[in-house]
Amino acid sequence: MASKVRFGIVGTGGIARAHAAGLAVMDGDAELISCCDVQAGRADEFARQFGAKRHFTDAKQMLDAGGIDVVCVCTPHPHHAHPLVLAAERGIHGVCEKPFTNTLAEADQVLEAAAKAGTFVSVMSQRRWFPAAQRIKKAQDDGKLGERIVMGESYCEMWRDEAYYKRDAWRGRWDTEGGGVMTNQSPHNIDFLLWYAGPAVELKAYWANVNHPYVEIEDNAVCVLKFKSGGLGIIKGTVSMNPARRIHGVTIVGDSGATVSLDCWEIPPEQRRTRTGPSDIGTNDIWTIPGEENIVGVSREHALDYGAGDLPNFHAHQLRDIIDAAREKREPAVTGLDGRRVVAIIQGIYESGRTGKAVTLSDP
Ligand SMILES: NC(=O)c1ccc[n+]([C@@H]2O[C@H](COP(=O)([O-])OP(=O)(O)OC[C@H]3O[C@@H](n4cnc5c(N)ncnc54)[C@H](O)[C@@H]3O)[C@@H](O)[C@H]2O)c1
Repeated sequence: MASKVRFGIVGTGGIARAHAAGLAVMDGDAELISCCDVQAGRADEFARQFGAKRHFTDAKQMLDAGGIDVVCVCTPHPHHAHPLVLAAERGIHGVCEKPFTNTLAEADQVLEAAAKAGTFVSVMSQRRWFPAAQRIKKAQDDGKLGERIVMGESYCEMWRDEAYYKRDAWRGRWDTEGGGVMTNQSPHNIDFLLWYAGPAVELKAYWANVNHPYVEIEDNAVCVLKFKSGGLGIIKGTVSMNPARRIHGVTIVGDSGATVSLDCWEIPPEQRRTRTGPSDIGTNDIWTIPGEENIVGVSREHALDYGAGDLPNFHAHQLRDIIDAAREKREPAVTGLDGRRVVAIIQGIYESGRTGKAVTLSDP
């Protein structure tokens, strides 16, 4: 591998800018070599803005041109799997925006291609690097939550209006977005829940489009689930809450009696300290650990200050792990299997809502 890890980006719309801005500050370690977008003007403008040497209108052409170690896939959901498979077939690692894929069959195709090629896949879950998220993980690793998680609640409490769905032609339809609040807004929360509570084995769910008549997809969903550990969980997602509250988050109860929460809040532009990327921060609004009554969780001020550090956004924190993984030939912190487990839950929620039956979940 070249001394700098060389990146390509597929899909140069909104979120691709968070990837490129993250790579730009890792000068000695990473380089954006090429980018592609089906809209030629976008790829051209993006390449000029972020200094990519080459730009294309087709992912296969970009990957065939070579000179890339890792590709970041930042396209709408139905277009995640194909470039990831093409990349693995060419020995290139993949980073995928959430959700990993729209179907389990696609997730398995990508994982099989990567396993065969000896490459890795990581799914973007940048909020795991929020200090409030890391603090829960550390408390768990230090045994402060106990042996296992008894109860985990995951929430997405957002507002989305007609203008949001009109912003891009792919939003709001089953065939072009793949789903609604579960597919688009909730993967981060579901990932948090599984990161702390471990894999789930069964779920039951309801979903509906209750008050967004101008789109096809679900705007509200609720789910109950059982974890492999024996613990129980709840997933709640809404884009009907105006104003939004905790846009992402989890509350976790451990068998030590401890209860901790990770609550992600949208920050108004004038208070933002991250320079690019999604503008929310994470706090620990609940932090009750038996025997540690005087210790508090991550506050709003601390979370805002942390965001003003060396890196321009939280995508950059995950990209740093990906660069290290590529150099050290190890799995990244967020794996393709992690992404597949989130897809299994989202697709399980849709199936359970359609059939009225419980859905069993298992790894391949
Ligand atoms: N991690 C996060 O916090 C976060 C935030 C926002 C969006 N996202 C995810 O990022 C992805 C993209 O979202 P966005 O808001 O940037 O969308 P967007 O519409 O702004 O950008 C998508 C781009 O992909 C291009 N594209 C479409 N099909 C393509 C193909 N086959 N090959 C190459 N380019 C193609 C489009 O022309 C467009 O420029 C989605 O998966 C979304 O869920 C993640």
